[in-house]
Amino acid sequence: AAAEKGGFDTFMEKEIHDQPQAVGDTLLGRTDAEGRLMLDELRIDEEKLRAVDRITIVACGTAAYAGTVAKYAIEHWTRIPVEVALAHEFRYCDPIVDERTLVVSISQSGETADTAMAVRHARSLGALTVSVCNTHGATIPRESDAVLYTHAGPEIAVASTKAFLAQITACYVLGLYLAQLRGETFADDAKSVMAELHTVPDKIASLLTSMDRVEEIARFMSDTRAVLFLGRHVGFPIAMEGALKLKELAYIHAEGFAAGELKHGPIALIEPGQPVFVVVPGPDTPNDLHKKVVSNIQEIRARGARTLVVAQEGDEEVTPFADEVIRVPHTSPLLQPLLTVVPLQVFALHLSTAKGLDVDQPRNLAKSVTVE
Ligand code: G6P
Repeated sequence: AAAEKGGFDTFMEKEIHDQPQAVGDTLLGRTDAEGRLMLDELRIDEEKLRAVDRITIVACGTAAYAGTVAKYAIEHWTRIPVEVALAHEFRYCDPIVDERTLVVSISQSGETADTAMAVRHARSLGALTVSVCNTHGATIPRESDAVLYTHAGPEIAVASTKAFLAQITACYVLGLYLAQLRGETFADDAKSVMAELHTVPDKIASLLTSMDRVEEIARFMSDTRAVLFLGRHVGFPIAMEGALKLKELAYIHAEGFAAGELKHGPIALIEPGQPVFVVVPGPDTPNDLHKKVVSNIQEIRARGARTLVVAQEGDEEVTPFADEVIRVPHTSPLLQPLLTVVPLQVFALHLSTAKGLDVDQPRNLAKSVTVE
């Protein structure tokens, strides 16, 4: 078993360290010699894809947060409206779906019953269905019109890590492909985004070598009762995922919020000593989002929060208001989730370990939920 864990104590830790490869392998073979996206593997009539006028992403749990990251990127690149629906809600909300709707399901196992039923329902309404899946030949890809496999390799730990990064990567690839196919003027940029994506695995690897302080913070927090996570733009689903990881692994009450929502309620939760993770957008994010999140940090700090700030290397503006700064390498704004989630995964892992819990098999959870 030790060999299976690649020398790590738990599958989850191994899988966190598999992430550079999971992203790299998911990019592999999906571009031609000129760097243009090439997804013949979809085997869908290109005309049908060109005609798509709305996209609905269906998924559960971590996969749904990958879907929310994907929404920001796909809408930006393709200008097609994208909605993200929890699979178990989608079926019962009388969804608006027709033959020009692309329903993208995201599932590591490909066996999640809620997601499989959402896909069946979408197909019965005439939608085009694409499965983003990590498991060859699983139910969901079999029952979809097309499949785009993530190549994260088998994920054993119940809490998803490398599959999440691979799902985000596959959705970027899909979004860029749709943009290229529709002849958005954007097509040239698709190449440069792909070129940048290819640099991300090395950045994740280097980030993973600088996690000692995160581990230490986690160890000191083993009796913490609640942790909040704030993020904005693509950092918002990452805040949600950071909170989910902590619930799943450390059984700590954790909530993720959109930073802009703070003053509309959650700020009432801030009392002296309350730990708050803040995922800070890079300083080059449009619309001054960086500045806005820095001022959110100031607001909660003024009320006594203990601020644990995930920020880009070189971002010094956050430093005066941060109790801890966790640095991540630079990427363009839409690609940041591939890096910012990593310290949050590592934090949850070590907090779980510090509490003496079973990291790989948290109580009450199943890797794949095959009943509704
Ligand atoms: C379960 C797991 C989660 C996972 C979710 C979706 O609840 O505990 O970690 O995110 O299912 O799984 P899927 O296989 O569809 O991605």
